[in-house]
Amino acid sequence: DLAGFPHYMLKEIHEQPESLRNAMRGRLDDENATAVFGGLNMTPQQIRTVRRIILTGCGTSWHSALVGEYMIEELARIPVSVEYASELRYRNPPIENDTLVFGITQSGETADTLAAIRETKRKGHRTLAINNVVGSSIAQAADGGIYLHAGPEIGVASTKAYTSQCCVLAMLALYFGRMRHLSFESGQRIIEELRMLPNAVAEALRCDATVKEIAAKYHEASTFLYLGRQYNFPTALEGALKLKEISYIHAEGYPAAEMKHGPIALVDEHTPSVFIVPKGTTYDKVLANMEEVKARGGPIIAIASQDDPQVQKIADDVITIPDAPGLTQPIVSIVPLQLLSYHIALLRGCDVDKPRNLAKSVTVE
Ligand code: F6R
Repeated sequence: DLAGFPHYMLKEIHEQPESLRNAMRGRLDDENATAVFGGLNMTPQQIRTVRRIILTGCGTSWHSALVGEYMIEELARIPVSVEYASELRYRNPPIENDTLVFGITQSGETADTLAAIRETKRKGHRTLAINNVVGSSIAQAADGGIYLHAGPEIGVASTKAYTSQCCVLAMLALYFGRMRHLSFESGQRIIEELRMLPNAVAEALRCDATVKEIAAKYHEASTFLYLGRQYNFPTALEGALKLKEISYIHAEGYPAAEMKHGPIALVDEHTPSVFIVPKGTTYDKVLANMEEVKARGGPIIAIASQDDPQVQKIADDVITIPDAPGLTQPIVSIVPLQLLSYHIALLRGCDVDKPRNLAKSVTVE
């Protein structure tokens, strides 16, 4: 059921305010300024002894793991490592006691993610799944888990599942943080920020007309760069993946400052750079990276906060998003990039819901 939308991908992009509300429903505990999860199957004592976390997944789910790494380390101060499931399953890394392993997967059927969870569980580590499909293989294999409650995702390109994964990881970061040093006041502030998120995403969706114009201007380019820092470094990776998979345009995501170590050689007047540069940490630094690209004649599309004359001066095209504090920012800033890939793919005559060579769930390794 397309509910009046021309494609599932567009429908699912627009469902995000609702899917985020569903991810949070019943999980924010104001009285204790924390998050609550029904299915972790761990006692508070066991949660307290966690000393390391591994987040693993593939593709877009791996990108949400990168966002989760920043979130958990910032709020809970627990060291996190992010692993491609396909690498983790064969790499046989030393894993210390008291390590908690999360498999992140929309479908719950991705062969590599499932194998990575089975292998770490076999070694005696506690494994949890962050998964959308109730009763999936991973939900059965892991010791416990958290459902996304995003509803079915039919478009092959993952959109609402990604933002829900990031949202669940933010709540986990809050939960682990409040089991440790995070104060009641900080917990309350984060709950407030999370509650504002669905409306912020709804507001970000209003950029659609602007994005369409920008897509018309650049849809014939053969390479795009996506650049961002900190919480928006994974946003850059995810924006680039969305463009690649549905429009077949080559795109690379990088931490913005890495650009001068090689990729800047790609910059010319035919290669657009998409900068994710909302106000917040490292804003000034990303601005400086934008200047470097401009000086070399590269067209710049900026995802920026409203009323930002500095960005407007440098960028050729600006897409504005509402202010969102650190933790929630990547969940807002990905929205225009989802729409950009959608509109570019349409203009190139691609089948956005069923891109060539791809399957919705990858059950072979
Ligand atoms: C990208 C995409 C894929 C999946 C990946 C993992 O839009 O959909 O990269 O994210 O195949 O799938 P799940 O999350 O089902 O394990």
